[in-house]
Amino acid sequence: MKDQSFDRAKDNVSHANLRSRRRFLAATTAMAATVAGGLTDLWGDEGREPGSPLRPYGERSPFEKTVRKNSRPGQLSGTGSTLTPLESLYGIITPSALHFERHHSGVPMIDPDKHELLIHGLVEKPIVFKMEEIKRLPSVSRIHFLECSGSSASEYQGDPAPTPQQTAGLMSCSEWSGVPLSTLLKETGVKPTAKWVLAEGGDASRNARSIPLEKAMDDVLVAYGQNGEAVRPEQGYPIRLIVPGWEGNINVKWLQRLHVLDQPAMTRDEAADYDDLLANGKSYRFSFVMEAKSIVTRPAGGQRLAGPGAYEITGLAWSGRARVAAVEISTDGGKNWRKAELQQPVLKNAAVRFRLPWNWDGNDAVIGSRCIDESGYVQPTHEQIVAARGTHARFHYNGIKWWRLQKSGELTYA
Ligand code: MTE
Repeated sequence: MKDQSFDRAKDNVSHANLRSRRRFLAATTAMAATVAGGLTDLWGDEGREPGSPLRPYGERSPFEKTVRKNSRPGQLSGTGSTLTPLESLYGIITPSALHFERHHSGVPMIDPDKHELLIHGLVEKPIVFKMEEIKRLPSVSRIHFLECSGSSASEYQGDPAPTPQQTAGLMSCSEWSGVPLSTLLKETGVKPTAKWVLAEGGDASRNARSIPLEKAMDDVLVAYGQNGEAVRPEQGYPIRLIVPGWEGNINVKWLQRLHVLDQPAMTRDEAADYDDLLANGKSYRFSFVMEAKSIVTRPAGGQRLAGPGAYEITGLAWSGRARVAAVEISTDGGKNWRKAELQQPVLKNAAVRFRLPWNWDGNDAVIGSRCIDESGYVQPTHEQIVAARGTHARFHYNGIKWWRLQKSGELTYA
């Protein structure tokens, strides 16, 4: 019988991609042949001595130096944000130690044995859950990206950031484990008049956001696991909300209270902040969804290519509105576009790794990517965003990011 799924997969790989892959393979074979001559030197006595002892908790190699960077150094200690070094990542998962951070008043140190989650308001039976009770409930694990809506904010004002980390490092992607929020709400019994759920964090800022009940009952997680171990203190230990595809701020960390309401609470975080100020002085309010976005992470600003030849263009794409359908790459500033290959599986509300083999001819190039999701939404250009929203906005910037490659091999922002 004809294998339909194979046919579909084949269709995704364009002939242009196949041709460039063949050229890429030819070039790398030539590189391998030159290296082979020196191979024997690698088999000396090095590495025959016993290595370091075993250790109870793993560390990366001391040769690996990449770190989160403070986005606004000099701020009050504990408050502010650090950025994920997107250019150093492989695949789609952000190692927990490199997950971006955004705290309004530092990281509280919470003892899980003492931590409680209160659900009250328009419910049949208010309940205080202890951590051990939450962990006894049926759990799920899902891969989701998290992006602060302030990510790439400086690009609005035409102040382009010079590296992937500096422009889009307020985005990370993890496997989150926990209990669906709907399970907890069903335990308490939600009254028919309920329409919103206010979630409040247990840090000094008491970051609090209202979530429409429909979303709360749909795919929101009360997460205690991150990439296979407990959520890190910086990410909300012992529990946080994961609100798939929605702006970072609503993903309340150190979750301690859920108040079921018939209207949004209009907290400071949603009434005085996290709205999109337009050119006419009005604002979009409750613009929760993080729209389709992508970024080429290699070759990208801050890097240097050794010389003309075979390279892989790679990066990350994501969309909070619908699954990523395609990513297109241009190396001539948007005149021509080619479809990148998407690493499977492509998951809803997760980052997607894209790749395209490329042969650099040594001339100037302007490299960028655009994400298209299954709703048909196409990642806009900077000019399109500014035309729609002006330059006063601070949130939800998702314009195409260009990198300029000069003949010297140097890459800067375009
Ligand atoms: N929750 C609490 N309680 N306190 C906070 O400061 N910051 C919010 C959100 N949840 C915050 C919070 C913001 S603005 C963002 S972008 C995300 O958490 C960042 O999550 P992360 O630090 O795990 O990356």
